[in-house]
Amino acid sequence: MSFQLCSSVWTNAKLITMDENNQPYGLISDGAIGVKDSKISWLGTMTNLPDTVIESSDDVIDCGGSLITPGLIDCHTHLIFGGNRISEFEKRLKGMSYEEISREGGGIRATVDATRAASEEDLFESASVRLQKLLDEGITTIEIKSGYGLDLENEIKMLRVARRLGEEFPIRVQTTFLGAHSLPSEHSGNSARYIDLVCKEMMPEIAKNALADAVDIFCEGIAFNLDETRRVFEAATELGLPVKIHAEQLSNQGGTKLACEFGALSADHLEYLDEEGIKSMARSGTVAVLLPGAFYFLRETKLPPIEKLRAYNVPIAIATDLNPGSSPSPSLLMMLNMATTLFNLTPEEALAGITINAATALGLQGQKGKLAVGADADLVIWDMEDPAELSYWIGNTKPTSIIIAGKLQVR
Ligand code: NIG
Ligand code: FE
Repeated sequence: MSFQLCSSVWTNAKLITMDENNQPYGLISDGAIGVKDSKISWLGTMTNLPDTVIESSDDVIDCGGSLITPGLIDCHTHLIFGGNRISEFEKRLKGMSYEEISREGGGIRATVDATRAASEEDLFESASVRLQKLLDEGITTIEIKSGYGLDLENEIKMLRVARRLGEEFPIRVQTTFLGAHSLPSEHSGNSARYIDLVCKEMMPEIAKNALADAVDIFCEGIAFNLDETRRVFEAATELGLPVKIHAEQLSNQGGTKLACEFGALSADHLEYLDEEGIKSMARSGTVAVLLPGAFYFLRETKLPPIEKLRAYNVPIAIATDLNPGSSPSPSLLMMLNMATTLFNLTPEEALAGITINAATALGLQGQKGKLAVGADADLVIWDMEDPAELSYWIGNTKPTSIIIAGKLQVR
């Protein structure tokens, strides 16, 4: 038998590589892609595809002109939570603001109560339903945050569920410790003591058990201030964990600039980000993760500074922010539509936001988010002619096939 370069090859496809090749979307219009041992092992035009590759591979699949994109990446979610916030939603519809609800002790704290009351098994089951919806849409990599436990036992419970989801689903799961999401009621009036706990007890224990791939904080008037953010970032850095931040969502606190001093992977939300913050992002290579679901659901009117982010070449990612309070949407393609209609991103920018730039926001650049030799063989096949169609439909768009680590997912 001749040397086998690929075990499977998909032929006659429009490859949306998202890799730089001077074409929009990194397009290879009449292409083929081969995989071996969970990686992409060959990719190019049909004309350049050697006969030996076809002859020696076990499986050749004719795509009949369909699109192939990289596996989609949701780089910011709060997938695991107990309960829901429907009554708070109704209050907001009557005019109460997200901040008012939070200051009254509702909001994140309500989900903390429900999450603490839920068993690990319950949390696994309810998160599985949401994760399956994302998988069915072509998401092959997801970030999952803790942040509704807010004590050691319950933060660990959430992160264990996240790790188990990564083991039992074919999806790659990146976990983030968000102990500094909100001040839990038992520490009311003493956030310094709680931050102590986060930095000195929770984070070291979580790092010791390899439960988190990164550390996040909510830096905001209703959450934690700049000094507290700095302490959390110092502790994370000491433990070798990369940082990211929920910043400038409701007001401009300067959290983004601080996060950039620590080489943050991403700064997320950013509606109130100023030019100084944007310049720091450009310097540190921090990805701007925009969350159109939260913008829409909280009826925010201040747009993130898209033009300036573009002008300074800050990479932009898009995510669901899936959570019960500000973005109850298990659809990343719905976010793609919103990123174009609400934020004026081009369909190409929006797609980069859930592929190549989302990979960078998770520190997975080179491995995920693009079609290139050596990258993980996560491919999604779509019965479409134009990649802009991915942001055109408002919801309920489904791929024809999903391949993760080279394996076709049976659905
Ligand atoms: O990303 N902004 C802070 N955290 C979440 C919301 C969490 C919640 O309301 O439960 C967010 O929007
Ligand atoms: Fe969030």
